[in-house]
Amino acid sequence: MNAFHLKYGLISLMVLSTTQAHAYDIEAGKQQLTENCTSCHGSELYTRSDRRVTSRKGLTAQVQRCQLALNLNWFDEDVENTAEHLNIEFYKFKK
Ligand code: HEC
Repeated sequence: MNAFHLKYGLISLMVLSTTQAHAYDIEAGKQQLTENCTSCHGSELYTRSDRRVTSRKGLTAQVQRCQLALNLNWFDEDVENTAEHLNIEFYKFKK
């Protein structure tokens, strides 16, 4: 093993651990939702029979649309955390 391989190996290890560190933070997502998302609609919208969101991907897209409309400037991570919280609590889509 030469220096190049050693360096490359270390970098992929680092990439691997950051990916794992980015598992969803459901609690943070729930908090974001409570703090920013209850002025127009509550959870009744997520459970109504004719709800608009019909897939896990669509859920992320809708969270993105609403936070953009509100100018919240969320990071992708915030969007994902909130979408995952909504999925676990209300939508229950399979991955
Ligand atoms: C300015 C008002 C407003 C706020 C605040 C708001 N939304 Fe929405 N949201 C809407 C409207 C309007 C719809 C579409 C309702 C419809 O189609 O009947 C919607 C729909 C949704 C849906 C889809 C519901 C369904 O039918 O499946 C989700 C999910 C959602 N919003 C998430 C969020 C999140 C997350 C936030 C906070 C970032 C948020 N909303 C804040 C106006 C708002």
